[in-house]
Amino acid sequence: MYIVQTAAHYMSDCFVEPYKFDIDRYLPPRNEHNGPGYAPYGLDAHTCTGRAWMHLHLTITMLLVAYYFEFEPLPRDYKLKINPFPALSVTGKLRLRIANQLQEFPT
Ligand code: HEM
Repeated sequence: MYIVQTAAHYMSDCFVEPYKFDIDRYLPPRNEHNGPGYAPYGLDAHTCTGRAWMHLHLTITMLLVAYYFEFEPLPRDYKLKINPFPALSVTGKLRLRIANQLQEFPT
C-alpha cells in the first residue's frame, strides 16, 4: 500500500482553490497548512520526531543559499513543471545556474 500524502493538496475541502498558487493561504487567520490536508511529517501518534530539527536546518540552508547566491534557470525562459508524485516537487528537468555570487565566503 502506498499513501499519497500529496493527494489531499488537491482537495477543495482541505484547501480553498487547491490548484491556485496562493502563498497567502499559509498566513493567519487562514492557516490552511495546519489542517489535516498537509502532513509532510505524518499525523498523530507517529508524527516525525525530527520535524523541528528539519524545519531549523531547511530554514538555515535556504537562508544561506539566498544570502550567497542568485540563481537563474537554464535556459532562462524555462517553464516550471511540477511532478505531484511521490511528493509535490519540480520535475528533475529543472536546471539552475549561479547567476551571481552576492557575498564573499568567510575565510
Ligand atoms: C524533511 C525531512 C523529513 C520528513 C519529510 C520526515 C517525514 C516523516 C514521516 C512522514 C514520518 C512517518 C509518520 C507516521 O508514521 O505517521 C516520519 C517518522 C519519523 N521521523 Fe521523520 N521526516 C524527516 C526527517 C527526519 C529526521 C531528520 C529525523 C531524525 C533526526 C526523523 C525522525 C523520525 C522518526 C524517529 C520517526 C518515527 C516516529 C514514530 O514512529 O513514532 N525524521 N518522518
